[in-house]
Amino acid sequence: MMANLLLGLQWGDEGKGKIVDVLTQNYDIIARFQGGPNAGHTLEFDGIKHVLRTIPSGIFHPNAINLIGNGVVIDPVVFKSEIEGLAKFNIDLPNRLLLSRKAHLILPTHRLLDAASEAAKGKAKIGSTLKGIGPTYMDKTGRNGLRIGDIELSDFKERYRALAEKHEAMIAFYDVSIQYNLPELEKEFFDALETLKKLPFIDSEEYLAKAQHDGKSILCEGAQGSLLDVDFGTYPFVTSSNTTAAGACTGLGIAPNKIKEVYGIFKAYTTRVGSGPFPTEDFGEDGDTMARVGNEFGSVTGRKRRCGWLDLVALKYAVQINGVTQLMMMKADVLSGFETLKVCTAYNYRGAQISHMPYNIEPENLTPIYREFKGWQADLTGMSNYEMLPEELTAYIEFIENEIQVPIKIVSVGPDRKQTILR
Ligand code: GDP
Ligand code: IMO
Ligand code: MG
Repeated sequence: MMANLLLGLQWGDEGKGKIVDVLTQNYDIIARFQGGPNAGHTLEFDGIKHVLRTIPSGIFHPNAINLIGNGVVIDPVVFKSEIEGLAKFNIDLPNRLLLSRKAHLILPTHRLLDAASEAAKGKAKIGSTLKGIGPTYMDKTGRNGLRIGDIELSDFKERYRALAEKHEAMIAFYDVSIQYNLPELEKEFFDALETLKKLPFIDSEEYLAKAQHDGKSILCEGAQGSLLDVDFGTYPFVTSSNTTAAGACTGLGIAPNKIKEVYGIFKAYTTRVGSGPFPTEDFGEDGDTMARVGNEFGSVTGRKRRCGWLDLVALKYAVQINGVTQLMMMKADVLSGFETLKVCTAYNYRGAQISHMPYNIEPENLTPIYREFKGWQADLTGMSNYEMLPEELTAYIEFIENEIQVPIKIVSVGPDRKQTILR
């Protein structure tokens, strides 16, 4: 049985959590493959709004197994609070939530290192979520990290201490003032490990290979977005993992020829949190309207998301890198009420018109070239099928499909599970 893959095509927060939740009824296993608690995946159903950080977005469906893959970095402290947040839903977690032994642990000192690194960068800071993501992946690739499987070893505490001491020396090296009480943070960390230990630690690549062999359906859930990919994103203003399709192979141990559909999610406009270039960012009234109507505030840090028009050059790039086979357009409802909509179809790059993403998309080199569309006024949030949508919106959708040459299979018209139009 082939696995399918779902990932974000912009700078994150496209609505991955909502769509994974909608699609879970068709799957036996939902498997997160990268990122960590920098993610905030929102689900809404039955009047409940819930934000997941490390736990896959299929957790509310009684029949699905949720698996956290080797490519994910886990902060036991955040993880424990996520588990506590789920308590009222009476989910049989030990039978429904599995952790890869090869997933890396975020230590309290990783979070401190993240803060020290950002403080040292000053104005050039990445705008990290300060969850310790960069330092943890640095320890992973630097071959110093601690993994879930290490918790079971008798010398785990000594290994922990050795790494934490090294981190303390590094924090001092940054020469910035970071206040912290390590014994307190460590107590919280070791307490949280006890919660983690109540869940099965597994060899997840074996588990998934067997599941595929036995005909089980798997949906791989990405975090962040393609433009935050450490290789293909707007480096250095990116996250520290491969958020693109290849990340599902390395983050779960699923071979490329065992993946079939690649679902790519994008907002009908664009948002970004944190620093870095954003060619179609709108600093005027239109951007403010998108932020207000779309409630564009980060689900993890509460920061206001920067907003702007849809960038088809960037979207095409993401579709190409990921081999997207089906598109899902989110938050179409947020664009109701605009007289005119704009879509960036090319860039003016150092005086020449180009239609690909160049190495450097800093604003001094590049201005977007827009095509305008007539807007629509109707409220979409109660619409339940494609035929109900205003013709200005279907023209917008069909233009995008035509440009990208990939069908848009889902149009989302509100945050709730039910506000989802399938085509
Ligand atoms: P993720 O990180 O990709 O899972 O996305 P987030 O959950 O961080 O951000 C998406 C936000 O948009 C959440 O607050 C969702 O509840 C909300 N949302 C998702 N789809 C829609 C939609 O179609 N319309 C509106 N208005 N909100 C949506
Ligand atoms: P989801 O999965 C949006 C951004 C941060 C920052 C940069 C690096 O909810 O879509 P990091 O903490 O990873 O070192 O931060 O990446 N970022 C996200 N932006 N959605 C996310 O996740 C993000 N995860 C990280 O704002 O600019
Ligand atoms: Mg999010």
